[in-house]
Amino acid sequence: MKIFLADTTATRKLGITLGQSLDAGNVILLEGDLGAGKTTLVQGIGEGLGISDPIVSPTFTLINEYTEGRLPLYHLDLYRLESNEVAALSLETYWEGVEVIPGIVAIEWAERIPYKPDSYLSVRLTYGDERTRQAEITPYNCVISEEIGVLSAFYECVSPNIVFDAKDSSCKCLPDE
Ligand SMILES: Nc1ncnc2c1ncn2[C@@H]1O[C@H](COP(=O)(O)OP(=O)(O)O)[C@@H](O)[C@H]1O
Ligand SMILES: [Mg+2]
Repeated sequence: MKIFLADTTATRKLGITLGQSLDAGNVILLEGDLGAGKTTLVQGIGEGLGISDPIVSPTFTLINEYTEGRLPLYHLDLYRLESNEVAALSLETYWEGVEVIPGIVAIEWAERIPYKPDSYLSVRLTYGDERTRQAEITPYNCVISEEIGVLSAFYECVSPNIVFDAKDSSCKCLPDE
């Protein structure tokens, strides 16, 4: 589904809704150019999880871990890495939650991961003009929470594959053809 993001606050709000509704082990793969709003969205996710530490871009640190919220947040940024370097990182330990406490894994520049988790939420951010962005959210082997669907309708859904029922504010995302 596509969500129109009118300004920075809208992007943050989408992140908050995600942060409130995601479960342990969920992976969010973020794609989009520099300045598209990936970090802004993750800041919202942190807020939705109840993390009050400032969420800063892990461009140089590669990964930042935040453990004070409802669930741990593992925030990665692969911008400075090549695909073969990413492969050597064993990122799956994060989404399998084997050696770490299972939490939310949010990965910027996810197009650099040569392998993908079994299930994940793909979020592709694209530019409109200076203030607007568009998020294209695609679930792979997972379900988009109803809250996101409602939010999407609220922000003007521009996709034909979403059905919003105003009677009970329910929202269903039809699978892509
Ligand atoms: N609708 C919007 N959503 C997100 N960021 C926006 C939006 N409009 C303007 N911006 C600005 O664009 C920049 C996005 O930066 P950031 O979230 O760090 O992007 P990325 O992590 O994708 O490089 C911020 O300076 C933010 O204020
Ligand atoms: Mg960033």
